[in-house]
Amino acid sequence: MPVSVDVLRITYSVTGFDNLNRTTMRLTSISLENFRNYKQISVDISSDLVLILGANASGKTNFLESIYFLSLLKSFRSPDQFLVKSGENYFRIEVKAGMAETFEVVVQTEPILKRAFKLDGQRIKRGLWKSFATVLFVPQDLNLFSFGPAPRRRYLDDTLSQISKNYSADLASLDHVLLQRKKLLEKIFANQARKEELAFWDEQLMTLTMSIGSERKGFLDFLNSRVNEAYKNLTGFQMDLQIEYKTYADSQLTARLREYQEAEIRLGQNLVGPHREDFLVKKQGQLNVYNSSRGELRAQILAIKLLQAEYLDQHDQPPVILLDDVFSELDEERRIKLLAHLSGHQIFITTTEEHHLPEIKNAQIFTVKDGKIE
Ligand SMILES: Nc1ncnc2c1ncn2[C@@H]1O[C@H](COP(=O)(O)OP(=O)(O)OP(=O)(O)O)[C@@H](O)[C@H]1O
Ligand SMILES: [Mg+2]
Repeated sequence: MPVSVDVLRITYSVTGFDNLNRTTMRLTSISLENFRNYKQISVDISSDLVLILGANASGKTNFLESIYFLSLLKSFRSPDQFLVKSGENYFRIEVKAGMAETFEVVVQTEPILKRAFKLDGQRIKRGLWKSFATVLFVPQDLNLFSFGPAPRRRYLDDTLSQISKNYSADLASLDHVLLQRKKLLEKIFANQARKEELAFWDEQLMTLTMSIGSERKGFLDFLNSRVNEAYKNLTGFQMDLQIEYKTYADSQLTARLREYQEAEIRLGQNLVGPHREDFLVKKQGQLNVYNSSRGELRAQILAIKLLQAEYLDQHDQPPVILLDDVFSELDEERRIKLLAHLSGHQIFITTTEEHHLPEIKNAQIFTVKDGKIE
């Protein structure tokens, strides 16, 4: 028997955004030109719950990817040049959101890569871009637990740069500092520079490590303090999870830089800093991948993403939720709980099979076929 969920009703009764005087971020229209398999489409969005149905390879993920792109100015799965429709030399994404704001990005790939960012029709610099936040759920999220630290750092960076301009600016400075410091390490190794010259870059690296670290710590502490509750809400089961931040942003930083200096010069690599940090998810004190079932891992990542949405609510604005193909792996009860906990947000859900969806009132349903969406 289908269970009916009135998502819109839950929205306002459960989360009480109205009390906080915050409004749900809503996208009201999306237009694409030459984006992936879309030649040209334009759709009006009229609900907080948007379902995108279509066969494999019809363009469902591409559609979500375009929304994600406007949020972070990058795709979650490939560099810009792959986003342009085959045979074309530019793509354009335009989204209207909130109080009739229009966000637009044009990326041209030939003859040279060029990007233009527009807010309400006015060109703005990339550094001033601020659109809407997103939280993305994709089946590959599980990789966050099983691969090396790089995807986990990217996860932190993507989440926090949506909240804080300082954080994005710090990341850009960090790239610069690491590059200059690496060049210097190589020169010192080749006896073309003195060790003392490192002090300048060490100072900068320390400042950035502390400021990036404090933002990362804020988010990871939040996750750690709430993850068991979120897991229980989602599954009904108790779980003993901890989230541990492996940071360099501590009082040991100077000592570590000193300790690693010889090795850094020998290798010509920056061995200490935010670019080497990580976080671990542990279940009963052990790394979760060693003692969790696949279903448990999936629920853990969902719990983390739900908390991510909540963190964005608190620090920025309610993010737009993109659920790509995640329902097929969840049972009916978890699907309903997931949606209930995401209430208060505009949610885009893709699926190949309509029966994967709980019966939902007030949803807007699109069907994707042959690069058309209607
Ligand atoms: N740059 C591009 N130009 C034209 N077509 C592209 C481009 N990039 C990807 N495609 C095509 O877009 C189609 C739809 O891809 P998409 O990932 O959106 O599928 P999907 O509907 O999410 O399918 P699935 O259910 O398998 O996840 C694919 O056939 C893919 O080959
Ligand atoms: Mg897909």
